Amino acid sequence: MKTSFTSLLALAAVATALPSSESSHAKRACSSAVSLDASTNVFKSYTLHPNSFYRAEVEAAAAQISDSTLAAKAKKVADVGSFLWLDTIANIDKLKKEVAAGVPCNNILGLVIYDLPGRDCAAKASNGELAVGELNKYKTQYIDPIVSIIKANPNTAFALIIEPDSLPNLVTNANVAACQASASGYREGVAYALKSLNLKNVVMYIDAGHGGWLGWNDNLKPGAQELANAYKNAGSPSQFRGISTNIAGWNSWDAEPGEFASDPDAQYNAAQNEKKYVTLFGAALASAGMPNHAIVDTGRNGVIGLREEWGHWCNVNGAGFGVRPTSNTGLELADAFVWGKPGGESDGTSDTSATRYDSFCGMSDAYKPSPEAGSWNQDYFVKLLQNAKPSF
Ligand code: GLC
Repeated sequence: MKTSFTSLLALAAVATALPSSESSHAKRACSSAVSLDASTNVFKSYTLHPNSFYRAEVEAAAAQISDSTLAAKAKKVADVGSFLWLDTIANIDKLKKEVAAGVPCNNILGLVIYDLPGRDCAAKASNGELAVGELNKYKTQYIDPIVSIIKANPNTAFALIIEPDSLPNLVTNANVAACQASASGYREGVAYALKSLNLKNVVMYIDAGHGGWLGWNDNLKPGAQELANAYKNAGSPSQFRGISTNIAGWNSWDAEPGEFASDPDAQYNAAQNEKKYVTLFGAALASAGMPNHAIVDTGRNGVIGLREEWGHWCNVNGAGFGVRPTSNTGLELADAFVWGKPGGESDGTSDTSATRYDSFCGMSDAYKPSPEAGSWNQDYFVKLLQNAKPSF
């Protein structure tokens, strides 16, 4: 049969790509159904899974590095847990391959749900495959198949980041025509995702941007209201834990004073680092009646002080890998530091003639040349590694 043959091949390909220690891990998959309690921090008992897709990218990158000391460090990046981005319908295959390869029982597989119609409405670099209005396709060809795969793998634990940037864009970019056009689809799509993915072996975090976004004093309340509406419209799902922050972002966790604290506008934003943001926004979420624990992306925030402006988001030049995933955050509200954005994958192209060229990727603090969003940028990966803090 064609399907089982190809999936066997895929399984074999993944298995041979794994070092022997990983193959033996695969044998230690859970033997019974996983039941996650979203009223607790599941990252205390599960390690974020180093997925084989990022492993393959990193191992290929390491093989291209001629300096053997640096190449050895590069290989260590493959062992860092990170989220797997399901950014197209076709890339649901990555999830199939990962579960087929086997996830160790003490690991949790991180997935980014990222394919809303009219995606990335206030920017261009990550515009997606679904057009505004294709909500039915999002539900039936994107969310539903992911639900089926997760249901078919009850012995695997999953942590989900739901739709980065989407609801934050509705809060602060309501004047952008594309965001107005996307708004109802975002709201219904996110609620559908939360409702449909509410499965026992899943814990969900909805994206809340970062401190330089919904952290502005005037944005805290409307931001919390927007997210709480999605949570409530989804029927207050039991597996919902809170928010993700700083996804693909650059903010420091706890720099004092904050990176932009001397900016004249700083008086309007008390969330000058992510720790403050999680605390302040967390309080606003609680008032709005929503679970408020957070996971925070520390994948690329090892070096700060690089951005000319807080809002600069594209391939920041001079960045370094940050703290490795851990549930040791020092703040009860923060469940874990995670690697959300897979460091080495581009944020957007610097090719000014490309359809998805966004001017932020041409700014003087953005690394150039850079390929299309999601594509591998070898030079940028090497720089993240060289600038890593802590170092590898
Ligand atoms: C960007 C890209 C997306 C990719 C993700 C992770 O958002 O648009 O395709 O999967 O980054 O690198």
